[in-house]
Amino acid sequence: MRTNKIRKIVQTRYGGFAKAASSAVGFCCGKPAESTCCALEQGLYAESELVSLPEIARNLSRGCGNPSGFANLQPGEVVVDFGCGCGIDVILAARRLGTHGRVYGVDFTPPMIERAKQAVAQADLRDVAVEMLDASLEDTGLPRSCADVVISNCVINLCPDKAAAYREAFRILRPGGRLAVSDILLSRPIDAELRERLQTGWAGCTGGALPEDDYWSTLRSAGFTELETVARHVLSDRELDDMARCPGEAFTPAPAVADLVRLRGAVESVKFTAIKPPSGDVA
Ligand SMILES: C[S@@+](CC[C@H](N)C(=O)[O-])C[C@H]1O[C@@H](n2cnc3c(N)ncnc32)[C@H](O)[C@@H]1O
Repeated sequence: MRTNKIRKIVQTRYGGFAKAASSAVGFCCGKPAESTCCALEQGLYAESELVSLPEIARNLSRGCGNPSGFANLQPGEVVVDFGCGCGIDVILAARRLGTHGRVYGVDFTPPMIERAKQAVAQADLRDVAVEMLDASLEDTGLPRSCADVVISNCVINLCPDKAAAYREAFRILRPGGRLAVSDILLSRPIDAELRERLQTGWAGCTGGALPEDDYWSTLRSAGFTELETVARHVLSDRELDDMARCPGEAFTPAPAVADLVRLRGAVESVKFTAIKPPSGDVA
């Protein structure tokens, strides 16, 4: 499928999800939320972090990790969240940075950026500069070498041009800057015809998931070094089912049950860090 068509599909799904949330308090996973929100159910964040967040940021969270928790953020740093969604990791990062810190949330789905602005206003981050940018990851419009850290949570798998997204992360990081990412990838090969079917529908977070060797070489080709895996796990059947229809069944048609069965054991959630070498800007 063509890159522009995939981007439109992603924007339509996440835009619909963000708009629906404005009219349904307690909305979660495309259904009314019960006693807990998805992020809490999944155990991605500490309960102490989640209780401090506005409800909208918790309920629209669609991540697969907690990148601000393993990015080793330091007071005063500049952080960019690639594909910030409703801003859950923007808010958590801002709380770690203190008075002189700055966080940019980047997302190309305008209704999502509007919800993120709402969430940030409700979070009352008086001491930290926070800016939400309606832009694509492949071309954020941010200046070269402006960031200490780029974080991202379950987004790069959705990008048809992962190389361009990682080249942009490299460009905006200062030499010696860090990447802290949670993402979805394929840990074992799947047959070409299944891959083609998943890609055709760009189904949830599985349609664009790359085989891991290709993923790591994309990062290295962008210039990143010192790749370190922080944690990884094979998605359980339930996680796979949820991820395949992310952001919710009302927005993304699920793959056929038989395809999901064939995918079992092949899809992993991976959290990793990498570095832009100190000499990174020298051509
Ligand atoms: C699975 S959600 C994750 C959102 C957020 N990181 C979180 O943890 O809740 C993916 C988000 O990435 C955004 N996104 C996907 N591809 C993008 C791209 N190429 N440029 C900018 N934003 C993108 C979508 O609009 C959506 O809000």
